[in-house]
Amino acid sequence: MPQFFATCPQGLSYVLKEELESFGLNPKALRETERGVQFTSPWETAFLINYKTKIASRVLKPVLSFTSSTEDQILSYIKKHDFSKYISKGGTFSLKVKVQASSMYKDQRVVMNLIRVGLLNEFEKKGRSDIKVNKENPSLEIVVVVYHANFSVSLNMSGLPLSHRGYREEALAAPLRENLAAGLVKMTGWSAEGDEPLVDFMCGSGTLLIEAARLDKPNSLKRSYSFERWDNVDKGKIKEIKSTLSATKDIQKNTQSDPSIYGFDQDPRSIQAITKSSNDLGLNISIKQIALKDLNKSSLPKSLQGKKGIVILNPPYGKRLGTTDQAKEAYALIGERLKAEFKGWKAFILSPEPELSKELRMKAFFKKRVSNGGVDCVLLGYSIRDEHSDSKE
Ligand SMILES: C[S@@+](CC[C@H](N)C(=O)[O-])C[C@H]1O[C@@H](n2cnc3c(N)ncnc32)[C@H](O)[C@@H]1O
Repeated sequence: MPQFFATCPQGLSYVLKEELESFGLNPKALRETERGVQFTSPWETAFLINYKTKIASRVLKPVLSFTSSTEDQILSYIKKHDFSKYISKGGTFSLKVKVQASSMYKDQRVVMNLIRVGLLNEFEKKGRSDIKVNKENPSLEIVVVVYHANFSVSLNMSGLPLSHRGYREEALAAPLRENLAAGLVKMTGWSAEGDEPLVDFMCGSGTLLIEAARLDKPNSLKRSYSFERWDNVDKGKIKEIKSTLSATKDIQKNTQSDPSIYGFDQDPRSIQAITKSSNDLGLNISIKQIALKDLNKSSLPKSLQGKKGIVILNPPYGKRLGTTDQAKEAYALIGERLKAEFKGWKAFILSPEPELSKELRMKAFFKKRVSNGGVDCVLLGYSIRDEHSDSKE
């Protein structure tokens, strides 16, 4: 059975594995690694995962794995796979090479040139001199990772990262990557099927809430996925999968009358942005402009009052937004408002450093490290007690 690899932001592999299991993959066919989840499945399942995963960044098809200490050896291994079979007449390919911890191959451009020329020569020998290099929109992207002298060569099935959902037109301050946001929501344990409210009172452009509302809906079927253009792929099968997906109720607009997803922000531009995305996508998200300091029982929507649920926050922090002092003040205010207005709730906060999170003056029951676009962060979970707690983290 073919083997595939779904990549994801660091820290999210375990929720990605759970997601793949929820698609019906056998847990024994899945292996979690630091960078994603390896899985064994028929090709059709790998196509379906591209359309359905909310957490993976890309789905790769590994094709070669070898150890090589000379340029000739690299070329002889590269020849073993027929890359031309994916590329239709006049098609193109691109090459991405990442060298990690290799004293032998320090300059990745050297490795890239070597493999590129080797591939072009092979194509010519096969009578496929029509295949050219194209970095922008290739028919096939070949990904090579070199670790010491170990080479792994994969095909990028997804093309553009799967986080490109296409709903965010303009980025406001420090938006989260969409698949990271989906993974964070999964980590909180919130589910669209339950009736627990989900609140982000610093929602920005609303990525966390939009991803929550779309957790069980397929990715856009309008954007292109690289494997759809591969020459040797059964196009009839792809059409069948897509039409089944668009017929499912998952893709229909969410019209439930009682929204359980709530977004607040002090910035009117955030309110405008999330209102637009939410309307465009037909999502039922309750949105209101409120500054944190004014967040109290009378400012919260009536439908929230008396309920207990989950708060999820990605507050601004010094490195990306505002100064550290401002960020500390914001954290202190978050802790104070949570304890005053969200008694009995759980709160999950994405925080880059303990210096900030200790301003909350609460003790975390949940801590998971995640990478937010290269910035090491921790998702901290708190149970807000009915009585104020001043214990420090
Ligand atoms: C890092 S952004 C959130 C980004 C969001 N998670 C996303 O992915 O789109 C932080 C948000 O907190 C909001 N904010 C900062 N201080 C606030 C306050 N005192 N009251 C309400 N919102 C606040 C900002 O307007 C900004 O939209």
